[in-house]
Amino acid sequence: MTEHTPQPPAEAAGGSGPSARREPRNEPAGTAGADGMESAGLHPAGFDREAFLTAMASRRSLASSGDEAPDDEELARLLRAVAPVADHAGLRPWRFIALRGDDRKALGRAFDDATGTLSDDPSVYSRRPLRSPLLLALVGVHRPHPKVPEWEQHASAAGAGHLLSLALWAAGWAVHWRTGPLVRSEPVRRLHGLSEDEVLMGWLYIGRPDPQRARPKPRELDVDAVLSRLPAPQPPLRAQD
Ligand SMILES: Cc1cc2nc3c(=O)[nH]c(=O)nc-3n(C[C@H](O)[C@H](O)[C@H](O)COP(=O)(O)O)c2cc1C
Repeated sequence: MTEHTPQPPAEAAGGSGPSARREPRNEPAGTAGADGMESAGLHPAGFDREAFLTAMASRRSLASSGDEAPDDEELARLLRAVAPVADHAGLRPWRFIALRGDDRKALGRAFDDATGTLSDDPSVYSRRPLRSPLLLALVGVHRPHPKVPEWEQHASAAGAGHLLSLALWAAGWAVHWRTGPLVRSEPVRRLHGLSEDEVLMGWLYIGRPDPQRARPKPRELDVDAVLSRLPAPQPPLRAQD
């Protein structure tokens, strides 16, 4: 994709915005358009885009240890950072359920119910919710809409999960998104009080980062493997009328 020079947003390039009168600055590669964002006041004051991108790129899932977790007030603040998730028609097709303390044991019992291992012995699944002091269940909510199919709504819900993971990570919390084979089982659904239009998309396991674990390196990305252009034109499927 190197032959394409990134262009500023249409409004900025069109000559009407304040950035249209400015000479281009010496920007690092790949930041065209940022000048227009700044002058139009679209980035918050003091926004450091390089720091922002570096922080995003270094997020990793982390195991947690101890009993400390964000309280409801902090959670509310971080949830507000999820507000900009892409959401066709503004349906907000997702919600979260917080499981703390004994609620995690109840989830373990639901896992037991789902696996049929109804005994006092900790089964392979029932202790898993105790690995972190806070679990946030992500619920995808399907709100029937003439223009927004279910999969788009679930895509938005997944985006909310990723944004919240990032926000929690930025705030210094360890997060690990987990599902497991029982996530769609009836006992687990019932425990969370899900309606027919709702699907459980896993839990964010949250706590303080475990200091015993090595700090994972940022993930590398082979950009050429994920960014391409359209393939060569093919003959039409049907002859044109
Ligand atoms: C929807 C979803 C479900 C996941 N379920 C599990 C899971 O059940 N167990 C697990 O170990 N990782 C699961 N993962 C992957 C981890 O959250 C994590 O992304 C993975 O371990 C890679 O680590 P990283 O995020 O640091 O790159 C899931 C991820 C997503 C998005």
